[in-house]
Amino acid sequence: VGGRVVCLKETDSTNAVAFKMAEEGAVEGTVVIADTQSAGKGRLGRIWLSPPGVNLYCSVVLRPPISPVAACQLTFLSVVAVARTIERETTLIPQIKWPNDILVAGKKVAGLLNEMNAETEKVNFVVLGIGVNLNMRLEQLGSTLRHPATSLLEASGTPVRRIAFARTLLEELDGLYDRFLIEGEAPIRAEWLERSAIGGRRVKVNTGNGEFRGTVQGVDAFGALLVQSDQGALETVLSGDVALLDG
Ligand code: BTN
Repeated sequence: VGGRVVCLKETDSTNAVAFKMAEEGAVEGTVVIADTQSAGKGRLGRIWLSPPGVNLYCSVVLRPPISPVAACQLTFLSVVAVARTIERETTLIPQIKWPNDILVAGKKVAGLLNEMNAETEKVNFVVLGIGVNLNMRLEQLGSTLRHPATSLLEASGTPVRRIAFARTLLEELDGLYDRFLIEGEAPIRAEWLERSAIGGRRVKVNTGNGEFRGTVQGVDAFGALLVQSDQGALETVLSGDVALLDG
């Protein structure tokens, strides 16, 4: 990871650029980083705020020899890589919130968006999109956000060195990807669970076509959340929004 790094001053979305490069044959490990994005993509069709100069917006092309169903496991890698990087580059303690949010002091500091190109049996490539709010000020966050958000600077009071942060992140991703190819997702998922902010917690789950309350039991090998519903059934949640009910 990071054998080839393309740095752009401004682009629409690093994910879109990396996706196009991958379609045109970019080697595995190619990274696209931008100073700002005019159309940063968030989950569920949302927009990812991307002011210039303050944050990290990057996308990584991977070509893992796995099935499209297994590709969602790569989210464990980027989540754990970002959490480890925050630990190495700041004094903060990151927490993970399913499916792919990274929180500091209960507020979101990073978002991940994987996009895939695949046939029925195998993955052609996956683009791991990673956005981390490093030095953005609260005023720049705007008031339209659905969930409380912050930046590492707001949370710690100390500016983060962008290049050092990016370098550490790519180093962590590289090590985790090597491990994933050899040992599979299990050890990385174990670290994910350990760092997770919601294991054992009471939550409200919105699956898009309904809402229920329950207690989080864990996460399965494909990244689905396992929730013991108050109604009694053990629910497997593939996608949706989860909110903590207590504290
Ligand atoms: C989320 O909604 O939580 C996911 C946000 C992902 C944002 C990153 S920034 C770099 C990459 N390029 C994009 O357009 N999106 C991802």
